[in-house]
Amino acid sequence: MLLSFDNYEAQSRKLAGALKIPCHIINRHHFPDGEYKLTLPTNIPEHVIFCHSLDHPNEKLVELLLAAKTARELGAKVLTLVAPYLCYMRQDIAFHPGEAISQRIVGNFLADLFDNVITVDPHLHRIRHLEQAVPATRAVALSAASLMATFLRDHFEDPVLLGPDRESKQWVCAISKSNQWEYGVCKKIRTGDKKVEITLPEINFHGRSVVIVDDIASSGQTLAVTIRQCLLKNAKHVDVLVTHALFVNGAKEHLIQAGVRNIWSTDSVSHKSNIIPLYTLLKDAVLNLT
Ligand code: R5P
Repeated sequence: MLLSFDNYEAQSRKLAGALKIPCHIINRHHFPDGEYKLTLPTNIPEHVIFCHSLDHPNEKLVELLLAAKTARELGAKVLTLVAPYLCYMRQDIAFHPGEAISQRIVGNFLADLFDNVITVDPHLHRIRHLEQAVPATRAVALSAASLMATFLRDHFEDPVLLGPDRESKQWVCAISKSNQWEYGVCKKIRTGDKKVEITLPEINFHGRSVVIVDDIASSGQTLAVTIRQCLLKNAKHVDVLVTHALFVNGAKEHLIQAGVRNIWSTDSVSHKSNIIPLYTLLKDAVLNLT
């Protein structure tokens, strides 16, 4: 059985359909003071798959806590979390004394609740393997790069792929390898939540189609600044493709003002830009658990 919530219903139903298992949407009641009451189906099988992407994480982590504990009480023996976007992965060290290392804390929280955790392109900067952050029995990090490569192949002949920072090299490199396209990686300095400086790599952008590929679009500043720089170098047009379309308020408008042509994303986080469904990738990962 797959359990999900109303704000991730479309993607959850696609995954359940691909797995040929029933999908139930957990009933969530909001009390006036902000607390939740969740109601799960009572016919819980031995293995339950929760599908919930962890954008807007603070509420969703509480939902998962209540739902996972209830599923165990109702008889579930194995719980798998499919969270295409895994939250709190960027704060992986204490940058200043006293700061919480959120990656480790949230990773342990999820590993305590779930036997298996499956996610897509998690932001692992200073560690190599997801299980170092999420010490569950199985912690599976998938990549949307091959789906992105196929999507871009249908839209472009010979674009320049651009990663806005060094973490994005893994995705632009994988996509360019499979399509034999030129790629480059920018240097990024972040000086605030909404302030970044980007230096383009030494590539001739004049008259070229540029596709910027990144894992996360949050404030949109990383992409907006990169788009502007490419257009200053006379790129023909600039499109962006991201795995996780968080796009906080106003982010999309920043990209449009910067001159982007198309904004595309996977359906990891529900957004108007969603164009690449992840359910086939996720289905294979769930089937590989057994
Ligand atoms: C960080 O290194 C990530 O890969 C993204 O580049 C970053 O999270 C994007 O954030 P924003 O959209 O706020 O610039």
